Amino acid sequence: MHRIATLFFACTLFFSACNTPVEEAPPVGLLADSAMVVSAHPLASEVGADILKQGGNAVDAAVAVQFALAVVYPVAGNIGGGGFMVSRMHDGELSALDFRERAPFSGGRDMYLDSLGEVIPKSSTLGHLAAGVPGSVAGMYTAHQRYGTLPWEQLVQPAIDLAANGFLLTEKEARSYNSHRERFLEANTVAPAFLLNESGWNPGDSVVMKDLAWTLTQVRDMGAEGFYTGEVAKKIVAEMVRGNGMISLDDLAEYEAVWRDPVVFSYRGHRIISMPPASSGGIALAQLLQMVESYPLADWEPHSAEKVHLFTEAERRVYADRSTHLGDTDFYPVPRESLIDAAYATQRMASFDAEQATDSEDIASGEFSGPKSEETTHFSIVDAQGNAVSITTTLNGGMGSHVVVDGAGFLLNNEMDDFSIKPGYPNAYGLIGAEANAIEPGKRMLSSMTPTIIEKDGQLKMVVGTPGGSTIITSVFQTIVNVLDHGMGMQEAVAYPRFHHQWKPNLVYHEVDAIPSEIRNALQNMGHTLQERGGIGRVDAILILEDGKLEGGADPRGDDMAAGY
Ligand code: GLY
Repeated sequence: MHRIATLFFACTLFFSACNTPVEEAPPVGLLADSAMVVSAHPLASEVGADILKQGGNAVDAAVAVQFALAVVYPVAGNIGGGGFMVSRMHDGELSALDFRERAPFSGGRDMYLDSLGEVIPKSSTLGHLAAGVPGSVAGMYTAHQRYGTLPWEQLVQPAIDLAANGFLLTEKEARSYNSHRERFLEANTVAPAFLLNESGWNPGDSVVMKDLAWTLTQVRDMGAEGFYTGEVAKKIVAEMVRGNGMISLDDLAEYEAVWRDPVVFSYRGHRIISMPPASSGGIALAQLLQMVESYPLADWEPHSAEKVHLFTEAERRVYADRSTHLGDTDFYPVPRESLIDAAYATQRMASFDAEQATDSEDIASGEFSGPKSEETTHFSIVDAQGNAVSITTTLNGGMGSHVVVDGAGFLLNNEMDDFSIKPGYPNAYGLIGAEANAIEPGKRMLSSMTPTIIEKDGQLKMVVGTPGGSTIITSVFQTIVNVLDHGMGMQEAVAYPRFHHQWKPNLVYHEVDAIPSEIRNALQNMGHTLQERGGIGRVDAILILEDGKLEGGADPRGDDMAAGY
């Protein structure tokens, strides 16, 4: 039955003329013998695969892909944003790198409120004040220093070539550029001509980014210093002065990417490795998988009423915890071990009723007596030695703050909106936060990014992650269950329709036709309110098959592509 549902979904997305669903073979992704990159843009995947063919390892390829995405996929690829990397080297060494943006030192908890304490509309999402101190260049440089094997210059050069020589827009990209035009004009003091086209962008148009090529050349020649000090830093600060933003030379010079201890837990005999705070992703994923582990998911259809109900109730509880307990651990005592304790998952689900939805108003976050200890993009890489990298990176909203640093040609993030800008006030994704995620100078805003790697019996099994704001966690959760419980291949698991609940608002969001009508009726009878919405997540993942081959899962919701050999 789940295959019919997949076809339903494919028809809805791509062939509106499809009518009666018929059973057919599930989609299979690209198969490769040795190494693979799956990313949001074909050109970036090709850049990464080329680096792997040149003998680079997965981290080398990740650096090249990150910079290439900053050129060809400006909606989320970036050097003006930040992100997280989870890696597993072939000898089993695990690491988690936090290159999340930080609040400027002059920022503070009320910086988006007016004199009456009301949120100033759009102040944390559009324009200069929305930007946090970028972390991506420091992240790539720090990762390369620890694990890189090819020279740094060789990894930045492909992005410089793409920016200087130009590249052709895909249909989705042309539409995306056009849809952001008004916001580019509103947010910038100097119109970013290279992103604007009077008569509108069309597929196949060539885009050249000369200023970005210059910035990347500084980074190529001087490493992270080329971004955080010197001419690029001066241009960022000049941009801030023109637009009343806050990022200073000090903020840039002091920025550091930080190695963290990955969140590691088990699920059905697998070892799952994911991202700790400043992302909520790894902790929330651990909670969700532990809350559903005792149920016979493999015996249920992937979108049966009992499963959607169970997942919704688990998600309701986990997102309530997220809103209270999660924030940057450098500033707030997150009760990390308590939250991912399997006994806590059991206790949290004690109020679960298999027949009836809980009201979100009746679900508060858990309490601990001990110490409290949509646009983003993801890419997954495995190299020929078996090293694996899972990176999710973002500007936050599509095109971030829409501010382009004049003369430097790159977009700045609007990540400050991921802070709780006022207690109980929902961010752009409807997420609510409190003290743990209040703005403080130099603090990292809470994320949902969930770059994840899975091992089975000490061997690499899967690399997975996705963009999607608050839906990141639930998309990764469902993709993992699709493979480990429902036995889907990687492409099928990635393409499979998704649903999402985040405690508040009390709605089960689902993709168009994701849930058959009789199951929607059953869920409504249990007390759930459902709401159809556009695509949830864009998962890019790699599965290591029994015969050692790699299967790519490139999300058909976007231009995503796997490349490998
Ligand atoms: N900006 C989305 C996230 O970090 O979760």
